[in-house]
Amino acid sequence: MSLPESPASTEFPEFPDGFLFGTATASYQIEGAYDEDGRGPSIWDTYSREPGRVAGGATGDIACDHYHRYREDVALLGDLGVDSYRFSVAWPRIQPEGTGPANAAGLDFYDRLVDELLASGISPAATLYHWDLPQALEDRGGWRVRETAERFGEYAALVADRLADRVDRWMTLNEPFCSAFVGYAAGAHAPGAREGRGALAAAHHLLVGHGLAVRALRAAGAREVGITLNPDRLLPATDSPADLAAVRRAETLHNDVWFEPLFAGRYPEHEAGTWGELADGSYRREGDVALVAAPLDFVGINYYRPITVADAPYHDPHPATRTAVDIRAEESWRDDVRHTTMGWPVVPHTFTDLLVDLAKRYPALPPMLITENGSAEADTVEADGRIHDTDRIDYLRSHLDALAAAVRAGVDVRGYYVWSLLDNFEWARGYDQRFGIVRVDYATQQRTPKDSYHWYRELIAAHRARTHAQPRTPGTRTTPGKDPR
Ligand code: FCB
Repeated sequence: MSLPESPASTEFPEFPDGFLFGTATASYQIEGAYDEDGRGPSIWDTYSREPGRVAGGATGDIACDHYHRYREDVALLGDLGVDSYRFSVAWPRIQPEGTGPANAAGLDFYDRLVDELLASGISPAATLYHWDLPQALEDRGGWRVRETAERFGEYAALVADRLADRVDRWMTLNEPFCSAFVGYAAGAHAPGAREGRGALAAAHHLLVGHGLAVRALRAAGAREVGITLNPDRLLPATDSPADLAAVRRAETLHNDVWFEPLFAGRYPEHEAGTWGELADGSYRREGDVALVAAPLDFVGINYYRPITVADAPYHDPHPATRTAVDIRAEESWRDDVRHTTMGWPVVPHTFTDLLVDLAKRYPALPPMLITENGSAEADTVEADGRIHDTDRIDYLRSHLDALAAAVRAGVDVRGYYVWSLLDNFEWARGYDQRFGIVRVDYATQQRTPKDSYHWYRELIAAHRARTHAQPRTPGTRTTPGKDPR
């Protein structure tokens, strides 16, 4: 196999003063305690119980048992020396039925977690929606209906009311592309629907929900408010006009649906060419675009791998039953590079290219934070009890090198969160895929830091030493996004 990427350097990549390092997780993937303290069912509880949906029939019922072990996990973060920790709030813990007053015990959990982080000098970064929609709302139409966006705004207000005094940065949604198109069109995530117009309506209502949540967060005095997107780097299979046209359609589906309304205040230009009459816009109302385009303090970017796109016939010749991901394009992974156990190709320079292009294309883009990047690898526990995950270290190093190159090219990136602190429930792939820099033994819940954890710890320490950053003081907040550069 030829490896066109130049070998990663052995030095640590360098970032500007005030650059923030963190790790990320999400509620359903780590918390467990699925029926404790009044938590209601989410669409992932339902979906993971449907036969054949998740590898090995896995569920998030127990996961990493973080709900009970959060103190131990925050201690791991403290030893790691991160500036910030990105977690998500489970909506069904706060509103078990997706509506009405807050369940106090649910808010209490995040209150304890936030205080524990602050006591360790770690800046809390909260995502309001990382895919665990209350099942009761799905039963009333889920993101297909506008009501869910309105309920999301109310939920945001409840959480902000309790935590905005201590959480430094907020992400409304995580990867709405996956919620709308993997969940409602490809059927590969909860709720497992395969729809056309329903998925396009879901995409729009997610954006409306974001706008309403931003309003609620601002009203509660939240410090930094943003959203996390997963823009894709889409590469044509060949230079043929047909493949280039397929890439244009895929750009609309993956990227423009989000970036155009959020950062250019308009709907995507190529909707009709991508979806025909499916994209009739009947789910839109006057004033929506202005609501969605309200200014943000940062945009969170999740990036893992590029996608190769080729022209293809429709999978479903019938427009009435065709899904919104059926856009006459075939997506694949390039095979001339190393792949992670997810099957994802490792091509770090595409990370630089993506960020540079985004900054060029959207001059009004707020500062970026990389809110996820990492790799799933075939970790093994060696005889010495350690996990020598050199593939993961290579992945992280080469992507941090690529990120540093983007920063040198003038892209305003303020921080980086590794996905993930812990091995966890990887959605439809269950527990087979290990993304953690800390290993979790699911039988005993024992946590073991991998070599990548130690490597990341050294990188953070080297950055601090080089930039003469003050050591973190427990009990104080860091807000690097606001630092002068
Ligand atoms: C992202 C998700 C995150 C995790 C990583 C591997 O799409 O946001 O929860 O599953 O992929």
